[in-house]
Amino acid sequence: MSTPPSTAHSKLKSPANRLTKLPTYVFAELDELKAAARNRGADLIDLGMGNPDQPTPEPIIKAIQQGVADPANHGYPNFKGKPEFRQAVAAWMKRRYNVDIDPETEVQPLIGSKEGLAHITFAYIDAGDYSIVPSPYYPVHSRATWIADGHVHHVPLTAENNFLPDLDSIPEEVAQKAKLFFVSYPNNPTAGVADLAFYEKLVAYCRKYNIVLVSDLAYGEITFDDFHPPSIFNVPGAKDVAIEFHSFSKNFNMAGWRAGFAVGNPEIVKALYSVKTNLDYGLASAIQDGCIYALNHGEEFLPGLVKTYQERRDVLVKGFRELGWQVEPTKATIYMWLPIPKSFPDSKAWCRHLIDTADVVITPGIAFGEAGDRYFRVSLVSPKETLQKAIDRLKEKGIRYES
Ligand SMILES: Cc1ncc(COP(=O)(O)O)c(C=O)c1O
Repeated sequence: MSTPPSTAHSKLKSPANRLTKLPTYVFAELDELKAAARNRGADLIDLGMGNPDQPTPEPIIKAIQQGVADPANHGYPNFKGKPEFRQAVAAWMKRRYNVDIDPETEVQPLIGSKEGLAHITFAYIDAGDYSIVPSPYYPVHSRATWIADGHVHHVPLTAENNFLPDLDSIPEEVAQKAKLFFVSYPNNPTAGVADLAFYEKLVAYCRKYNIVLVSDLAYGEITFDDFHPPSIFNVPGAKDVAIEFHSFSKNFNMAGWRAGFAVGNPEIVKALYSVKTNLDYGLASAIQDGCIYALNHGEEFLPGLVKTYQERRDVLVKGFRELGWQVEPTKATIYMWLPIPKSFPDSKAWCRHLIDTADVVITPGIAFGEAGDRYFRVSLVSPKETLQKAIDRLKEKGIRYES
């Protein structure tokens, strides 16, 4: 017999202020909207997701399976990761970015890069400290600072600035106080990319103010038309101030395995390591085996993956152009970032309108902060036929961009 829920729980102590003061997580609200539409029988096409739709490449799964069967992997993992993992990371950084990384002191395996981005924040931010975060932003870049009782100074990313932050707009007193500066290029959600000239300015800025520069390179390999992004460490002197986060989720369709790594300044890597040794046990050893395989054989999988996303991008670029949007082909990421029509008050209203009239789901830009509220994000994580079907539905319902 099951026990009925106790009414005494209404007297349960409330969660910490750091949780209750957080702005609502828009993705949870979006889930409710989708559930309501499905309840009325809607056959939704979901362009809102950031979750890769394709399976992990077979040889990577095999490497994980072999790792699972190996009793040497059954105890707690080593906090620093396997030596082979760290060596594979260093070799990858050299091959893909021409960056020298010391596998002993400059690599930290992660249980997904999101985990590392949260923990690097806890390593540096005390109550009242400042992080600088370009906005719109991937949520953890701001939220981890808020959870640590710190303040976030948002720098707007605008189409006019090619979605790069204007460093001169940051007040001097914020620059003096800031401990962390987050950037993420290729960018989620805007799909903006950074060139070396911008990174040079950013590194000089962080060196001037002794700010720890956190570069999130989660989309480093999802790049189109012969574009490949620089690493922050392509700037001489960046290793004095920077740490860079990499993910297996998008590059290798491994989001469900939860794996990433950080590379960079040994002191910063050590601070991250120190938080992690207190709070987790590191990346499961069998998963590390799959990651080692992925890094050592990455070039076998990437061209196919990139081609698939590029074809999908082309379908959406053509489709949205036909619907009146002026879209340039994106250079990277699995997203497109488009303005909402002027007649809509905000991005949530636009999102509700598309669900109600066309059974198409997008992500309202507000999910990435106030600065995103006149935009919406669509993802390339559905087959191109599905993307075309979404465009056709919008066309049928007379949905068009009007400025
Ligand atoms: C910019 C950015 N950084 C980090 C992550 C988290 O990736 P991971 O799966 O490695 O935790 C994501 C996931 O969508 C992302 O968009």
